[in-house]
Amino acid sequence: MCGIVAYLGKKPAQPILIEGLKRLEYRGYDSAGVALINPDKGGIRVIKSSGRISVLEELLSEPDPKEVVGIGHTRWATHGEPNTINAHPHLDYTGKIAIAHNGIIENYSTLKTWLITKGCKFVSETDTEVIANLIGYLYSNTDGEDAPRDGQNRFEWAVQHALNELVGTYGLAIVCTDFPDMLIGAKKGSPLIFGLGKNEYLIASDAAAIVEHTTQVIYLADNEMVTITPKGFHTKTIDNIEIHKELKQIEFSLSAIELDGFKHYMLKEIYEQPKALNMCLGGRLDMRDGRIVLGGISKYWREFTRAKRIVINACGTAWHAGLIGEYLIEQLARINTETHYASEFRYRNPIIEDDTVVIAISQSGETADTLAAVEQAKERGAVTLGIVNVVGSTIARTTDAGVYLRVGPEIGVASTKAFTAQVAVLAMLAIELGRRRHLSTEQVRFYIEELSKIPAKIEEVLSLSEHIKKIAEATCDRENWLFLGRGFNYPVALEGALKLKEISYIHAEGLPAAEMKHGPIALITKGMPAVFIATKCSQYEKIIGNIEEVRARGGRTIIVASQGDENIKQYADFLISVPDVPEELQPMVTVVPLQILAYHAAVLRGHDVDKPRNLAKSVTVE
Ligand code: M6R
Repeated sequence: MCGIVAYLGKKPAQPILIEGLKRLEYRGYDSAGVALINPDKGGIRVIKSSGRISVLEELLSEPDPKEVVGIGHTRWATHGEPNTINAHPHLDYTGKIAIAHNGIIENYSTLKTWLITKGCKFVSETDTEVIANLIGYLYSNTDGEDAPRDGQNRFEWAVQHALNELVGTYGLAIVCTDFPDMLIGAKKGSPLIFGLGKNEYLIASDAAAIVEHTTQVIYLADNEMVTITPKGFHTKTIDNIEIHKELKQIEFSLSAIELDGFKHYMLKEIYEQPKALNMCLGGRLDMRDGRIVLGGISKYWREFTRAKRIVINACGTAWHAGLIGEYLIEQLARINTETHYASEFRYRNPIIEDDTVVIAISQSGETADTLAAVEQAKERGAVTLGIVNVVGSTIARTTDAGVYLRVGPEIGVASTKAFTAQVAVLAMLAIELGRRRHLSTEQVRFYIEELSKIPAKIEEVLSLSEHIKKIAEATCDRENWLFLGRGFNYPVALEGALKLKEISYIHAEGLPAAEMKHGPIALITKGMPAVFIATKCSQYEKIIGNIEEVRARGGRTIIVASQGDENIKQYADFLISVPDVPEELQPMVTVVPLQILAYHAAVLRGHDVDKPRNLAKSVTVE
């Protein structure tokens, strides 16, 4: 949720930290800060502010060329309101240790009480300050039995001992004034990578912050740490056992994280969908042999094909994609499939039998609840599959098998291209499972052929942006909306409602259309916008009935329909016609006008589309 960047090298750290923080701002943006080691003055210079990085920047003086070691943080508040005092980095009570932290310390209250009895002073309401003070206390009160041995430096020793006391999650960057040319990073449950540049090292919670400097990285695993000095680095467990970590090359182009002339990342990512889907499908649709090739699953097809039950876990938009996956797998592969909110699944007592396969869907690959669901499933012996976008992310590394989305970085908080790619991967999985179980060659070829046409069809929908903007202009003053769909388009209705509410702050409810009369119909008043996805499908006549129910009560209908459907015009106050697609594959096309509608509504209402209030891109806390 928050972002960390840290630097040790020969250049002034301040501008590097600020640039890195700007690239991480999509992860959290309620306050920010930097801490720089100044060897001349023998201390740490900490500058913090509430608000965006731009506010922090205004407080900064000219970079000091001697300050070549520093840590930075952009925050998404969990403990304590987003003000300057609660912003990171946090100093310990002696002023020697500074830390930037992502994650949540669950036993912070107990530790805080104990540290207060030992004379430690606290100034913030954060759980993070407990880590700083614990390290600081151990660092300053070490002797006798407890003293560091075998030449280990006291700073590293204190960090290890403090981390062993913590319950919860952390990604950490830590500096100490007594070791002005040392930087420590540590990880448990929150992502942290360590980048090796030329005469410089970086630590970050996300590759975006460091790619400008290096693409050579080490992914730290849980309970691992890295200690860096100008002479080099070593990686250890937090129990002080040396470990060898493999250096990886990240494939990440800077242009992928730039706006490229678009006003917002969300708009850019909506427009990228045809290209992104082509990347996702590329090399995976084998038209000649009539099959789907998913390299990351090749060793597990047997388990998948024989599965009696597939359990999908995800959160938010990824959960909506999972719901479509449930319909797809049941329809095409005839395997009993159910989709769970990962946050619920992890705390129930789920039944996992020998022939249950668990799928986790996550753009970031770091969502805490989804990761916990995977761990829960693994513990109970399930084969796990990750459908993930971020290469090398924790869920990608934790699952047994995986399919990457290959859509490039998604920066906008509102997920768009990741959603369509998640559905595309689930469609490929369903088709291939169907082929291995019972679908005829003709059926398989038909779906593969139709899947390959989806990017071009999305391109057609994108050309409707101006028309959809006019619909937004006419309706975005209304504070309550309904989104209704049936069958494969029911999760699309949920997704359309989520998109609208998260960026435009309009209250929107997504429902299976038939559920409306079991309660929500009471909400309909004159002029209330009701968005229907009413494309040609097996339930077309039924949804027309639902549209009539809304119109009879004065609701205003915005209908996403199939091109050439003349009949539907009589029911629509606003019509959005999309290309025809087989029912099972429609969500990838029908969701696009809803993304565009939400985007325009949010812009018209004057909101920051890419950084909606209270949200962060990746939810790495419970
Ligand atoms: O990174 P993940 O796909 O695991 O994230 C899951 C949700 O937090 C995410 O989809 C969220 O709902 C989006 N902001 C919706 O646009």
